[in-house]
Amino acid sequence: MNEKEIVLSGIRATGNLHLGNYFGALSKFVRMQDDYDSMFFIADLHALTTNPSPEELHVNVKNIVSEYLAAGVDPEKATIFVQSDVPEVSELYLLLNMHVGIGELMRTASFKDKARKALGIKSDSEDIEHEIIGSETNKRVNAGLLTYPTLMAVDILIQKAHKVPVGKDQEQHLELTRRFARRFNSFYGVDLFPEPTNFDFGGQPVKVPGLDGSGKMGKSEGNCIYLIDEEKVLRKKVMRATTDEGPKEPNSPVSLPVQNLFTLMELTSAPEVVQQFKDAYADCSIRYGDLKKQLAEDILKITLPIRQRILDIRNDDAYIGKVLRQGAERARERAAATLKEAREVMGIRKFY
Ligand code: TYM
Repeated sequence: MNEKEIVLSGIRATGNLHLGNYFGALSKFVRMQDDYDSMFFIADLHALTTNPSPEELHVNVKNIVSEYLAAGVDPEKATIFVQSDVPEVSELYLLLNMHVGIGELMRTASFKDKARKALGIKSDSEDIEHEIIGSETNKRVNAGLLTYPTLMAVDILIQKAHKVPVGKDQEQHLELTRRFARRFNSFYGVDLFPEPTNFDFGGQPVKVPGLDGSGKMGKSEGNCIYLIDEEKVLRKKVMRATTDEGPKEPNSPVSLPVQNLFTLMELTSAPEVVQQFKDAYADCSIRYGDLKKQLAEDILKITLPIRQRILDIRNDDAYIGKVLRQGAERARERAAATLKEAREVMGIRKFY
């Protein structure tokens, strides 16, 4: 029998899912689940780095499971589980950290970014290492934030995943995962962990832009369209998206805010519709109001059916419980086997 390749990915339980999560990750989960041995989880331990309230965390986990299911992840085809339901992950995280350098973690772009935010530093140029060491306990950068990439590497390596469908912003974490896998394998002279790669159906990993003219749609950026947004709210957000004064001469270069709208359109609208607006931009006849109306319409075609299903599934505690129990069992089985091997390789062996 042909063994299917293992695919694994997760999303942090930090709020409702937005179009960045959808096009960067979730829509790929749905497309991959038929052809791969697929495992998709909710990263609740990773969400703890921002110290959410216990109630908030619990609700977020439930919402994201509902969003996975509503978007079409099928528990009969894919293993759907919560990260903390697999305690083996926490143990391997401790073990792998012994082979991870503080320096390489501190150089990670997402760490620097989050550390700056935690310390309230605005500029890019400040000596962030110095600020971290000198930080007081009321404005601290927690150690979980630093070791975030180790935990993510363990999520992947403990399931021996080959492919990890994620957006462009997670590529540095994947690169670290490969490095940690190589280092562990070579230190102990074993071939325990495969080196995983990103996956995007032959295309480039996507970066979904925000509505505020910035580079990236993100929960902390406040520039998101959520799958759960009501129709009216969604239309309003799109109509308010940042643009510019419009092209003054034929074939003008496109500014970032307008390019962002084209990028969103490329993800959601038919190719001929995108081309029509690009042509209108090139000959200066474009009306941004029309473009936004069309964009809102095409986004709603994707999100509204998902929204309806989210609302239904959220009310079905028994179903959610059943899916997650079954997922936890499957995910633990493989994780326990890998952890056992890692312990043995490292010399953690029983005397009784
Ligand atoms: P998180 O929760 O930040 O994001 C979840 C997924 O959404 C993608 N994404 C985007 N893609 C394109 N454009 C955007 N604007 C955008 N915003 C978010 C992310 O690339 C990601 O795929 N560290 C991970 C969670 C994680 C994980 C793992 C992923 C933990 N362990 C193991 C894969 C494998 C994260 O922070 O995702």
